[in-house]
Amino acid sequence: MINKLKFWKTSKENDALEERINALKELPMPKHVAIIMDGNGRWAKKRALPRVAGHHEGMKRVRRITRLASKLGIEVLTLYAFSTENWKRPKSEVDYLMKLPGEFLGTFLPELKEENVRVQMMGYKDKLPKHTLGAVGKAITETEHNNGLILNFALNYGSRDEIVRAVKNIVHDVKKGKLTEKDITEANFSNYLMSHSLRDPDLLIRTSGEIRLSNFMLWQLAYTEFFFSDVLWPDFNEENLVEAIEVYQQRSRRYGGLKSEGVEE
Ligand code: FPP
Repeated sequence: MINKLKFWKTSKENDALEERINALKELPMPKHVAIIMDGNGRWAKKRALPRVAGHHEGMKRVRRITRLASKLGIEVLTLYAFSTENWKRPKSEVDYLMKLPGEFLGTFLPELKEENVRVQMMGYKDKLPKHTLGAVGKAITETEHNNGLILNFALNYGSRDEIVRAVKNIVHDVKKGKLTEKDITEANFSNYLMSHSLRDPDLLIRTSGEIRLSNFMLWQLAYTEFFFSDVLWPDFNEENLVEAIEVYQQRSRRYGGLKSEGVEE
């Protein structure tokens, strides 16, 4: 009986979530959602578990959030999986984090393919172990013809470094005569960033109550709406993503102008 009640409650909750999801579809959806997945360590600490257990649980959330993003028709989901600063962590933790793309894709690549998801990566390949690059490279190749959600992993990514490298490449192209000073526009500068093929994020979510950007997509987030959640990433669920999008849809995006009604397309 208790089990039955539990089931009834769960299915009722599911219906309520479905309703909220359907309501979201009536309004402009953020086309590019970027997430700083934070709080794995604290999630583990609260349970007296090693930090890596939090990362493992966090990896499982990637699957759930990707599925919902795909269902909602979001075009790009960028996930900050490893920053250029994360190398400062203990070697054992770094090694573990480097194994997660392999484990994740080893298990879920068939499902991603079935859901028409296209895997991409944004970050520096140097320093990444062969096995990490191999797993991500395989997923990129095997999903390159998919045209559904782009699942973009920011892996060994750092925004300041990305900007400095862009400036260096522009100087190089100017020297080579491929570019003149007047060609250096905002749009052209964006082409030199690792995100050049993607639109800028419409919505940035950071979990775990931290209110900072941590060197993430500093150029690209210029007009992005921010949503900070106190929920630790391994607990971040479908309802939390729905809530973030509901809040986004109530915002008025003016891009420095004066329009005041609702989210712009
Ligand atoms: C920050 O939490 C999180 C990370 C540095 C790693 C994020 C990685 C995942 C969620 C898994 C990625 C999965 C795939 C498939 C690549 P933290 O460790 O800084 O947490 P804390 O602030 O509570 O210590």
